[in-house]
Amino acid sequence: MPLPKAELHLHIEGTLEPELAFALAVRNGVTLPYADTDALREAYRFQDLQSFLDLYYGLMTVLRTEADFEELADAYLARAAAQGVRHAEIFFDPQAHTARGVDIGTVVEGLGRALDRARERHGVTTRLILCFLRDQSAESALETLEAAEPYLHRITGVGLDSAEVGHPPRKFAAVYEAAAALGLRRVAHAGEEGPADYVREALDVLGVERVDHGLRCVEDADLVARLVRDRVPLTLCPLSNVRLRAVDVLEEHPLPRMMDAGLLCTVNSDDPAYFGGYVEDNFAAVRQALGLGEERLRELARNSFEAAFLDDDEALRAA
Ligand code: ADE
Ligand code: ZN
Repeated sequence: MPLPKAELHLHIEGTLEPELAFALAVRNGVTLPYADTDALREAYRFQDLQSFLDLYYGLMTVLRTEADFEELADAYLARAAAQGVRHAEIFFDPQAHTARGVDIGTVVEGLGRALDRARERHGVTTRLILCFLRDQSAESALETLEAAEPYLHRITGVGLDSAEVGHPPRKFAAVYEAAAALGLRRVAHAGEEGPADYVREALDVLGVERVDHGLRCVEDADLVARLVRDRVPLTLCPLSNVRLRAVDVLEEHPLPRMMDAGLLCTVNSDDPAYFGGYVEDNFAAVRQALGLGEERLRELARNSFEAAFLDDDEALRAA
């Protein structure tokens, strides 16, 4: 039986399995530049974050209708539940869809339909986190937040993702300030490929409560001390780090050192359809490659509920 856990770093577009991508391509009359699902899987050899993102945004063109987004989320929730997920905080990238003429309402309402049934159907509670694409302009992020206003009842927080290097957190100071004024929670990807300074800036300038990845904080002892002192959660994604070459091999992942240092680490799947596994697959991989014992794995699961945007009584029920 997998440990009960919360998943806090999961891009819903990153759960698009090749079989569903081809089914949606047929349904929506989209021609994909791959002969079949095997050829598509063959293309999943990434050099870095950007080479992944290029393929990832390309494949998303099959997602067009509310029903598509509903089916995508329902498939993820079924898989996640089977892997012990009791609570999922799900990222989505509106700009990756609106740029193709798909309205943000189509995305949120489609995902929302699956999320509304998730507790009953899959035993999973959920939150939605709207991510801004950091390689787009700050103005585009502000326009996206404005476009999301009719749907804020469905959205718990904002995040920041896509190509990191050259797009520091401070670029998004204004939109994070506006999001905070709307009562939204704040997270951001930082320190995945970008430097430790981006982690510090995400805390200081954007006011994030949680850091997505945060891997490169280990290069800065003062930053680590601060993250430990303030119990700032990090949403680590070990299989993603190997596939996108943030670490050479899983055996060299800093997770055990980070836990030993007292950091509040969680383990998540990021884009499981692309990186070789869902959240329990990540737990199993770190157990094997890093020799994490049962107590460490239980600590990771406990941390995931502490780091979640749940009320205390909800967290107790979910755990
Ligand atoms: N979008 C989807 N997955 C991502 C990742 N690992 N880093 C940045 N942006 C992403
Ligand atoms: Zn991510």
